[in-house]
Amino acid sequence: METNEMKKYHIEKNTVQETLIIPLYGRKVCSDRFPNLFKDPEAERICNMLDYDFAQKGKRMESGAGLFGALEVAQRQYDIACEVKDYIKSHPNAAVVNLGCGLDDTFRKCDNGICKGYNIDMPDVIKVRNELIPEKDREKNIGCDLNDERWMNEIDGSEGAIFYATGVFYYFKKEDVKTLFCKLAARFPGAVVVFDTCNQRGAKMMTKTWLKEAGISDVKAFFSLEDHAELKNWSSDFKNVSAKSYMRGYRDIYKYVSFFHKLMIRFCDSIVKMVIVKIEFR
Ligand SMILES: C[S@@+](CC[C@H](N)C(=O)[O-])C[C@H]1O[C@@H](n2cnc3c(N)ncnc32)[C@H](O)[C@@H]1O
Repeated sequence: METNEMKKYHIEKNTVQETLIIPLYGRKVCSDRFPNLFKDPEAERICNMLDYDFAQKGKRMESGAGLFGALEVAQRQYDIACEVKDYIKSHPNAAVVNLGCGLDDTFRKCDNGICKGYNIDMPDVIKVRNELIPEKDREKNIGCDLNDERWMNEIDGSEGAIFYATGVFYYFKKEDVKTLFCKLAARFPGAVVVFDTCNQRGAKMMTKTWLKEAGISDVKAFFSLEDHAELKNWSSDFKNVSAKSYMRGYRDIYKYVSFFHKLMIRFCDSIVKMVIVKIEFR
């Protein structure tokens, strides 16, 4: 009889959902290569349980540029976790909501024992997630398109809420991101949303490198930001909009990386404007 350890779970190829493999595998690679910065045995466990050919990604992440991509995704999870931990210090019973969660376990990395975790993604991703990372106490996995606001009915934001997304809005149209944020601001006063973004040049590069080399062609990158200040005009419900460097804003890893990666960090900060944006609602 097949045991749970032997069973492998499938992710649909050539879809937006398949993009979850990139950050998951990146976190595993960083856990192997930079254990002092990014120890993540969960990422390794989950990769081992997927029916997915990681050979090609492994090869790519051995190059300097590939390894930098892995550093980016591990670092952004760290950044977002800092924001979550900070928010739940002042709102310990808050809803901690992972938008486009894939197989990311940030809620568990931040759990204070009383906050409420919600993981939202497309139904087929949630089906796999339920097998690989089943819900624990105070945790709910919700299979729903983020553009379908019914998922918001399931969030108990009565004691505060932090919504976060990593690597998700690149696959959204700008007007859909705007609609989503405006709805969140109207329904969850006092909440915050945090997410990673870059400028248009960066979004185009991402499509040409990551998605192309991963063979994911059925996905278009849309959303990018030249200047986060632009977001202030989206809604009068936004109290404050701020941004921090993706690679240096929360924990400066500059001194731990190679000369090539130092150059890449400078490139990301100055040319493609990779940042973590935080919007605080009134
Ligand atoms: C690059 S992956 C990132 C996964 C996860 N946030 C991480 O960092 O590991 C993008 C995720 O967003 C999800 N996604 C994209 N568009 C979505 C939508 N409209 N509704 C729900 N999930 C969506 C995809 O299914 C995928 O799991």
